[in-house]
Amino acid sequence: MSRIILEIKDFSMVFGGLRAVDHVNIHINDGEIVALIGPNGAGKTTLFNCVTGVYKPSEGDIAVSNPESKVIRTNGMKPNNITELGLARTFQNIRLFSSMTALENVMIGRHPKLQAGIFGAIFRDKSTRTEEKQVVEDSLVILKKLGLKQYANEPASSLSYGAQRRLEIARAMATEPQLLLLDEPAAGMNPQETKELDDTITRIRDKEGITILLIEHDMSLVMSLSERIYVLDYGKLIAEGSPDEVKANPAVIKAYLGE
Ligand SMILES: Nc1ncnc2c1ncn2[C@@H]1O[C@H](COP(=O)(O)OP(=O)(O)O)[C@@H](O)[C@H]1O
Ligand SMILES: [Mg+2]
Repeated sequence: MSRIILEIKDFSMVFGGLRAVDHVNIHINDGEIVALIGPNGAGKTTLFNCVTGVYKPSEGDIAVSNPESKVIRTNGMKPNNITELGLARTFQNIRLFSSMTALENVMIGRHPKLQAGIFGAIFRDKSTRTEEKQVVEDSLVILKKLGLKQYANEPASSLSYGAQRRLEIARAMATEPQLLLLDEPAAGMNPQETKELDDTITRIRDKEGITILLIEHDMSLVMSLSERIYVLDYGKLIAEGSPDEVKANPAVIKAYLGE
């Protein structure tokens, strides 16, 4: 039996009169690549926001198994504390610091790992300088993994759209997550960039052992990448299963054709 890394039980999120997510159950096993799909407005990003502590769930439970396999209930926890449990995400809309370099964007992602704190930052003692050097080296390694090392010293805004999306993933990986949540990572990418993203995500899982939960609209990417798929429609889970099972599910076909 593989370890469950994220468990979402009977979870709902209500905004005023709108039930954006409605009694949803989802679990992610360690090492899986799982997709969360569904028409626009289905509640996918809201689910990510609740898992990462942006919003507190209205109902239900979200639990994360930390790197020591201890199950921690995360409802109401702050985003930075959830990051410490090994969760990292990217956003549907790119949120890079556009005038900072690619390297600096990844270094910022590394920040929660730093020991030096404010005292070290002001006085720049020897251990702080050693730590800073290490951060640069580690961040360059992460850039290399995402095929971005040659852009290390370029401002983020000068990168192609596909490269900026990969840089978002690099920044998320800087926290050394056990679970990476990707919100529409292929949005706006051309077919070549999407193909490279497919390989990159597979490699992150295979080589780094990072579990992946992704929201994605590109169905060929979803079908090629994911081992299991959950389908949301109007906040409700309408299907789950293997890519073949989901493709053949009449409720899924109806939700997509009815869009
Ligand atoms: N902060 C919010 N306040 C009010 N309504 C919201 C908020 N965030 C999302 N919603 C609504 O919740 C529903 C689900 O949105 P979202 O999770 O972004 O969908 P998806 O990512 O599947 O396209 C939508 O109707 C959206 O307008
Ligand atoms: Mg969304």
